[in-house]
Amino acid sequence: MIDTSSPLVRPRRLRSTPAMRRLTSETRLNPAELVLPLFVREGTSEALPITSMPGVVQHGLDSVRRAVTDAASAGVGGVMLFGVPESRDAIGSGATDPDGILNAATRVVAEEVGGALVVQTDLCLDEFTDHGHCGVLDALGRVDNDATLERYREMALVQAASGSQLLGLSGMMDGQVAAVREALDGAGFIDTTVLAYSAKYASAFYGPFRDAVESTLVGDRRSYQLNPGNRREGLHEALVDIEEGADIVMVKPAGGYLDVLADVAAVSDIPVWAYQVSGEYAMVEAAAANGWIDRKRAVHESVTGIRRAGADVVLSYWAVELAGWLNRGD
Ligand code: PBG
Repeated sequence: MIDTSSPLVRPRRLRSTPAMRRLTSETRLNPAELVLPLFVREGTSEALPITSMPGVVQHGLDSVRRAVTDAASAGVGGVMLFGVPESRDAIGSGATDPDGILNAATRVVAEEVGGALVVQTDLCLDEFTDHGHCGVLDALGRVDNDATLERYREMALVQAASGSQLLGLSGMMDGQVAAVREALDGAGFIDTTVLAYSAKYASAFYGPFRDAVESTLVGDRRSYQLNPGNRREGLHEALVDIEEGADIVMVKPAGGYLDVLADVAAVSDIPVWAYQVSGEYAMVEAAAANGWIDRKRAVHESVTGIRRAGADVVLSYWAVELAGWLNRGD
């Protein structure tokens, strides 16, 4: 019989003091492994609030300068830019216009902080199309995979020429990594890095993001984004992207997909990132605003969980605030 009055194994020993807990911590957060997503809106110079994402704004070209300077001072690893254009059309012309908002913002940000952190851009058509889909449509109104790849190739060249060092391919078209890599290499952009949003699920947790980019989407993205119930398929998508030449693979959303993240991290020989999306942010903010959870602890814990599951880098709307806490040691 086991003598329960005196356990032989006492795991609590390692939790007994703050110093011991600090020493035995398996997962530590560092500002360098955080990336801040930023929205830049055409036609505004100052920041506009986003109702469903308290604390996050749509920047103008002036306010984004200050935001990225703050991000660089806080030591975050990078910023990921999203554009919110004033007008949209069927093929998302604004995405390939060198003076379109995303490309203009990229030049501003690259000039301001290009030496201090990695300037990244979202490579997808949904913010630029009037129908809100991530690609162009065929005559029957379906997303046309291969015609979309041609648009992505053009976007890649304009973004790279604008100073983006890392392209975030978030459209979930088949063959997008290979197509973009080929276009970049063919134009001499051999150092432009490709981040593949490999396992991107058709998620309700993108809801606040759609407000942030003023999405015009009617319907859903289930014909190209993954079914939330599919774990094996998430891994398959990552392996395909690695094969196609991705430099980094990503799982998105993060919190609800930690199993997929752990699967990908277990086999990937390239970096694995995760995107803590707008809905994950909004849930914590809303609960904290009601006094239902401790905001700071919840932010810390949610990002720690994503790192623990296997993400090397986390995209988070809290990146700069969290980096500030880490720098101060709280
Ligand atoms: C597509 C894109 C989306 C997000 C990032 N890139 C939206 C979508 O797929 O509907 C969502 C990010 C978030 O919710 O924070 N360009």
